[in-house]
Amino acid sequence: MGQEVTGVKPPSSKIRHLDCSVTRRRRGSMYLEEETSKKSEVISCIFSLKEEVGALAKGLRLFEEKGINLTHIESRPSRMNKDQFEFFISVDASCAQALDEVIDSLRTQISGHVHELTRNKQKDTVPWFPNDIQDLDRFANQILSYGSELDSDHPGFTDAVYRVRRKEFADIAYNYRHGQAIPRVEYTAEEKATWGTVFKELKTLYPTHACREHNRVFPLLEQYCGYRQDNIPQLEDVSRFLQSCTGFRLRPVAGLLSSRDFLAGLAFRVFHSTQYIRHGSKPTYTPEPDVCHELLGHVPLFADSSFAQFSQEIGLASLAAPDEFIEKLATVYWFTVEYGLCKQGSEVKAFGAGLLSSFGELQYCLSDKPTVLPFDPAKTSLQKYPITEYQPVYFVAESFEDAKERVRKFVATIPRPFTVRYNAYTQSIEVLDNSQQLRNLADSIHSEMDKLCEALKKLD
Ligand SMILES: [Fe+2]
Repeated sequence: MGQEVTGVKPPSSKIRHLDCSVTRRRRGSMYLEEETSKKSEVISCIFSLKEEVGALAKGLRLFEEKGINLTHIESRPSRMNKDQFEFFISVDASCAQALDEVIDSLRTQISGHVHELTRNKQKDTVPWFPNDIQDLDRFANQILSYGSELDSDHPGFTDAVYRVRRKEFADIAYNYRHGQAIPRVEYTAEEKATWGTVFKELKTLYPTHACREHNRVFPLLEQYCGYRQDNIPQLEDVSRFLQSCTGFRLRPVAGLLSSRDFLAGLAFRVFHSTQYIRHGSKPTYTPEPDVCHELLGHVPLFADSSFAQFSQEIGLASLAAPDEFIEKLATVYWFTVEYGLCKQGSEVKAFGAGLLSSFGELQYCLSDKPTVLPFDPAKTSLQKYPITEYQPVYFVAESFEDAKERVRKFVATIPRPFTVRYNAYTQSIEVLDNSQQLRNLADSIHSEMDKLCEALKKLD
């Protein structure tokens, strides 16, 4: 999704993950999420209980016995086990110590064989971040607008049919959970016509304006994913294609995520994507990301391994980063993944999705009208930008590899108490904050180096 809202500061939060058994890591688990709002100083917990008559009453009694006043409680079907319920409660932050005691009691008295998996050492200062790919479900619906909520200057604002349609798409995303196939959509003739107009115009520009990576992947999308003027590709097909190329996958989103949440998805090679299309009255304009922007602008580059890694680096850098750095990373994302230019031979080409999905700006960005500066994350991250008009300033990268290296150096300046890496086998984030984790990483690097040396010998 292209236009994340920068400057929106989600509350910092902390997570503790508790589990019923070592072998059944997720199912039947009890997990607790603590979330501290700077304004109200509230701690919130989510927990699930064993299937047992009266379990909730027993659990609530524990809070009562410790004199903890619940300021909020709600129940909902568990995402881990559909036969169970989760309970979301909030308490005043001053009850933190008593809450710890209740949590211990919940573990021993209500939920049985529970043990703690992780605990943030800097739990008062480190913002919460998703530990594994399923955790993306937790914030997927923490969005800033929903479905048919359109601004008064939106082309579809007065179109009741369009608003109903937008809500249908939002509902698909709202009900989506990690691991499910993305529901297929039967696009209407009008929607296909809108797509066709955009597709046809942009395709004429790609050979001369798009970077070579985009032009290399685009024919594959036509061949394998139904990219045609008369057909809007299905997100599920595109997601499967991306997974086979780079491990990136699409996930439908019901509205605008905060920058922190959106960037966290990239750490897992998950791209939050819209599925609806812009209003048919203005096929060459959209005030927000739509399926044309995602499929024509973003998707081709996510199929390139170097670009995929570059995007993931930004995502990983965002995990546990302080709010001011989230804003800087979102700006770096803006001037690269959305509006980036790169050198290719003696020419400059576009690789940003905002450019590759805009017929007008794709031509403008390579003209002599805008200011073009070298990509330098330390400086780029401070650049202000408009979101509803052509960019007055672009940044040009020497190459994806060079941009990646520069971002790595910039990331090293982010004040974080630990380093993180993504484990693609477990689809989870490893926090490198103890000697065992470092040994595991060293072993893994050693093994890869052996393979490299062996391959080099064979090449010789
Ligand atoms: Fe985008």
